[in-house]
This record gives sequence, structure tokens and C-alpha cells, in this order.
Amino acid sequence: MSRSLKSVTGSTRRVLTESEVLSRLRSKRGAPGYRAMFSSWIGGVVTDPALMQIPLDDHLVHRGHGVFDTCTLASGRLYRLGVHMDRLLRSATLARIEHPWSKEELIEMVIDTASAAGIRDGAVRYWMSVGPGGFSPSPQECAESCFYCVIFDPTPLGGEGPDPMRTGVPEVTVLDTPMKPPLLATIKSNNYLLNVLTHMEAVDRGGTFGVLVDNDGYIAESCVLNAAFITSDRVFRTPPFDGILSGTTIRRVMDLAAAELTEEGLISSVSQAPVPASEVRGDLISEMFLCGGDTHLYPVTSWDGVSVGSGDVGPVAKRLIELLESEAFGAGAGDESDFIDVPYSD
Ligand SMILES: Cc1ncc(COP(=O)(O)O)c(C=O)c1O
Repeated sequence: MSRSLKSVTGSTRRVLTESEVLSRLRSKRGAPGYRAMFSSWIGGVVTDPALMQIPLDDHLVHRGHGVFDTCTLASGRLYRLGVHMDRLLRSATLARIEHPWSKEELIEMVIDTASAAGIRDGAVRYWMSVGPGGFSPSPQECAESCFYCVIFDPTPLGGEGPDPMRTGVPEVTVLDTPMKPPLLATIKSNNYLLNVLTHMEAVDRGGTFGVLVDNDGYIAESCVLNAAFITSDRVFRTPPFDGILSGTTIRRVMDLAAAELTEEGLISSVSQAPVPASEVRGDLISEMFLCGGDTHLYPVTSWDGVSVGSGDVGPVAKRLIELLESEAFGAGAGDESDFIDVPYSD
């Protein structure tokens, strides 16, 4: 989609009626694939994308005082919602968002939204905010915390064109965008400006998502993905979660790697410990990849202009993609508690 940079200053002289607002909201929406949204603020679910709104004075919008998380709707089941909800609740505690909901109640709200959406495969995103109530920095002015959840058609993170999970991606180290301080990096909050700038700088430099290396030369993470490396002696290496987001996907990938890939002889061991960037360069590694969003794993075929391994998607990445996809979408193993059947009405 191309972005419109057209000025609309003349329209500031128009005060719109309710029906004009609705018809304009509808004409702006086209068919974006947003299937259902729950808002605790309005107390129900809407399926018309034009009505999927957040109040402007919700501190989520103008202060970033909100947290969010995701999960995957796969073959009519919510995959790993419990794991994501644990992280949302941790984020909410760190962001000092007081709210009335238990984990079970939050899960129920997501299930109900998925049911109203009616689709069997989709993306799930939900936010908890301190709520609407003025424009100061203080949550004291917010009458009630809010929970919003949206179910939408899956969209590829790498954009249109060949699937980057099959072709691999070129990657670069991001040099000009600073890392978040650890408190912010470990909360999945609505402060994602640095993540966005990381991605944009990466694209400017010929990369895709960007690799962040801290001031001491250690690997951190990517814009919205965790990073992992397979060394030439077949050790799976990924950094600890001290100053980065505790990714749900990398945690599942580590478990699968330890359980399946060591058995299959693809790797010798799994190590989650600080990773100096100097130890995972050039011929010291055979593979590198970035992962997130439950089932997305992007093999990195070149890093800062140097081929990773053979320059093709490697066997470890291929096998992990296979395991993640088969677990989430159907026939694969996986813990029963990681799946919640959505009760559809027909
Ligand atoms: C900064 C950051 N790191 C890592 C991840 C990967 O997390 P997950 O695997 O839970 O999607 C994300 C996900 O959005 C992220 O925003």
C-alpha cells in the first residue's frame, strides 16, 4: 500500500455530523481484514472495522501507558495464549497498571473475540491500558483500566513478495538507533518507537529487521524478534533475557532444539548466555536466525554484507520452521495446555 502524504488542511473548517463521521470512517477502511474487536470501554465486540476505535484520551494513546501481547489463532485454536497472557500480566505489573482482571478472565475475553471473528486462522493482539481520562501523565485521572482485543487476518511481517521464511533475509547491525533501557525492553509496552526506528534503519542499510548489539559488544535482539546463532561446532546460542524481551517463540524454539534437534544430530547443545557479537561472525557460525510471533522464524543469509554459512537457508532453521508450523497448525506434538479450542457458533 502506498502512503498518502496529501495535505488536508481545508477539512479543519468542517464540523462533521455523526452520520458523516460514520460514512467517512467506513470509506477509509476498505477491506483491511480486521474481523472483530472487543473493547472493555464500550463493553462489547464490534465486527465493523470502522467502529474499532480507541479513545484519544486513553493514556495508551498519548502517553504509551499501556502494554500489549499477541498469540496465534491456528486451525481454530488459540496457540500459546496462556504463555502470552502471563507475559502481559508481568508487563502490566512492571508498567504499574492496576486492573480488575484475572488471567482466566482475560483469556475468556480473547476467546469470545475470536469466536465473534469467526475465522479459524488469524492474528490476535490485545492491549491493557490505564484507560481514558484526560491528557496529563497521571493515571489518577483515568476512571477505569481498559482491555482491547482485535482478531485480524494474518499479514506477513516481511511484507509482500517471496516468503522470507523460505528465502532467508539479509541483515545488518543497527548503529544509530539506541537500545531501550532494560526496564522498557523487558516490558511489552506501547513504547515501540525505538523498535520501529531499528527496523527503518535496518532497511536503509540494506537489512530487514536489524540486529542490535549493546555498548559492550553483546548481541541483544532485533526490532520485534529474538536472535539465535548456530556455531560451527553446532552449539545453539541465544542471549539471556536481562535487557531484552523474553520472547515466547525463542523459548519454544530452545525447548524444541534441546528435545528434537540434539536427538537428530543437527545441534550439539543449547546455550542461553551472553553472546559477544565477535564470537558469532563469519565462519564462526553456520546459521543465524530471528524469531517471534509464535511461528515466524527468519533465517539470516547474510549479516553486514558477509554470507552466513553457505548463504542459503540452513538445515537447523528449516527443521525448526517445520516443527513450529506443525505444532501450531496441526499434526505436530505440543503441550495440550498450549491450545484452546475456540467455540464458534456454526
Ligand atoms: C522487542 C521484541 N523482541 C522479541 C520479540 C519476540 O517475542 P515473541 O516471540 O513472544 O513474539 C518481540 C515480539 O513482538 C519484540 O517486540
